[in-house]
Amino acid sequence: MKIVGVDLGGTFVKIGLVNEKSGKILKKTTIETKVELGGKTVVKRIAEAITNLTNNDFYAVGIGSPGSIDKERGIVRFSPNFPDWHNFELAPKLSKLLNKNVYVENDANSFVLGEKWFGAGKGKKHIVALTLGTGVGGGVISHNILITGKDGIGAELGHVIINPNGPLCGCGNYGCLEAYASATAIVRMAKERRKKFPDSVIFKDEITAKNIFEAVKLNDRLAVIIRNEVVEALSIGITSFIHIFNPEVVIIGGGVSRAGEILFEPLRRRVEELVMPTFKGTYKIVQSPLVENAGILGAASIVLQREN
Ligand code: BGC
Ligand code: NA
Ligand code: ZN
Repeated sequence: MKIVGVDLGGTFVKIGLVNEKSGKILKKTTIETKVELGGKTVVKRIAEAITNLTNNDFYAVGIGSPGSIDKERGIVRFSPNFPDWHNFELAPKLSKLLNKNVYVENDANSFVLGEKWFGAGKGKKHIVALTLGTGVGGGVISHNILITGKDGIGAELGHVIINPNGPLCGCGNYGCLEAYASATAIVRMAKERRKKFPDSVIFKDEITAKNIFEAVKLNDRLAVIIRNEVVEALSIGITSFIHIFNPEVVIIGGGVSRAGEILFEPLRRRVEELVMPTFKGTYKIVQSPLVENAGILGAASIVLQREN
């Protein structure tokens, strides 16, 4: 049977038709999110894209959406990077347009489910996952159960405050992990230091997290400073997550994770330095093997999780 997975990101919506057994993506497409058009229009465009892609040959849709999700009702209650989506009826609206069952889950919760069904979390019962994109998302599987808390909105690992005197976060607080390790934060860190480092290669091209990590490979001074700050923030956060959940694996995905070893090598080293002695060597920190398909597969996994 086929499922549609929708990865609703800050910039793009990725939509895939997935074979539920193999986790193979049979077809996929990407549209621009354009949050500013408002939820209703975005949902209409998603419905059109799904119909064009699949000819309605699928049985249910899973959507991974940023923010606090009321999964019983399929509502986005609040989303730090989608400022106008308050109590937005995402699943009911899409379900009406497509005439199929639609399930919504927090995007990072779906990411960890996708990793468990199809990726680095296969066969594992204790997984902590982070997505480093427009925001920083968290997903936790503990004792084989997706941890979501009383209202289903827990595991907001990106909004763990690691420095109360730190930069402003999209959620309104200061010094969240997201304010240091999201793509948005990384770009901000570069812009803030432009005056001090006018000759950095970062400013020779479009300022993106990707280009900044490329510049680390060239030993650009500013790029290295930013990378180190991202690593330090992530290490503080991940150390706490390891202390709390004692995971087998910490899986990191999202655009920023594609920086690869230039990020992961110092990160592994620093976390291993920071964890308590009994935790040393008990966990792995890995890059998501599902790469750009992680969002779609995660979203499809929501359907598998709810209907199984
Ligand atoms: C939101 C999370 C989301 C993450 C990644 C954060 O700002 O609070 O709900 O999972 O961004 O999109
Ligand atoms: Na989450
Ligand atoms: Zn925050």
